[in-house]
Amino acid sequence: MTTPVLPGYDYGTAQVTPSPLSLADFELLKQAVLFGPDDERYLRMAGDVLADQIDDVLDVWYGFVGSHPHLVYYFTDGQGNLSRDYVAAVRRRFGQWILDTCRRPYDQAWLDYAHEIGLRHHRSKKNQTDHIVAVSHVHFRYMVAFIYPITATIKPFLAKKGHSAEEVEGMYQAWFKSVVMQVALWSAPYVLPGDF
Ligand code: HEM
Repeated sequence: MTTPVLPGYDYGTAQVTPSPLSLADFELLKQAVLFGPDDERYLRMAGDVLADQIDDVLDVWYGFVGSHPHLVYYFTDGQGNLSRDYVAAVRRRFGQWILDTCRRPYDQAWLDYAHEIGLRHHRSKKNQTDHIVAVSHVHFRYMVAFIYPITATIKPFLAKKGHSAEEVEGMYQAWFKSVVMQVALWSAPYVLPGDF
C-alpha cells in the first residue's frame, strides 16, 4: 500500500523551516494557555469524532470565507481573479491540519510545522507551496480574528457523536486552547525580531 501524497504537505521533512522556539519554550507556552494532559486526551477524542466529518467542517469554514470578499481576497491575485486550484490545494492541507491538531504528538516536528504554517500565511512563504500568483500576505489582524470562527463552529461537530455534555465541553476547550496556541506560534514571522 502506498501513502497518498498530499501536495505541499511537508510535515516532518527538511522543507520545513525550524521553529525559533525550543521545546522548553513551547512547554511554557502550553502552560500559558493552560494546556495539559487532559487536553491531549480530549483532542484524541475529538480526532475520532471529527475524522469522518472533515469535509463538512471545511464546507462551513470555506462557506464563511467565501461569503466575505475581504477574506476571499487572500486566495485571489488582488485583481478579483480567484484561483480555484489554490483554494482546493489549501483545503486539502487544511483537512489534514484538523487531524494533526487532534492526533499528532506536540513534539519538535509538530512545533516546526506550526512555524511553517505561520510562514505560509506571511509574505515570507505565502504562495510558494502551490506555485501560485496571489496576494502576497495574509494580514495579521485576521489571523487573530479567525480564532473565533475556527473555534465556535467546531462545537456542533463535536456534539454529533453522542458524547456527554462534559466530554463535548472538554473537547471544545482543548480545541480552543490548541488553536490559540497555534496562532501564537504562527505570529512569529509577523513580529519584530526579538519581540516574539
Ligand atoms: C485561526 C486562523 C487560521 C487557521 C487555523 C488557518 C489554517 C490554515 C491551514 C491549516 C493552512 C494550510 C497549511 C499548510 O500548507 O499545510 C492554511 C493556509 C492558508 N490560509 Fe489559513 N488559517 C487561518 C487564518 C487564515 C486567514 C485569516 C486567512 C485569510 C482569509 C487565511 C488564508 C490562507 C491562505 C491563503 C492559505 C494558503 C497559504 C499558502 O500560500 O501556502 N488563513 N491556513
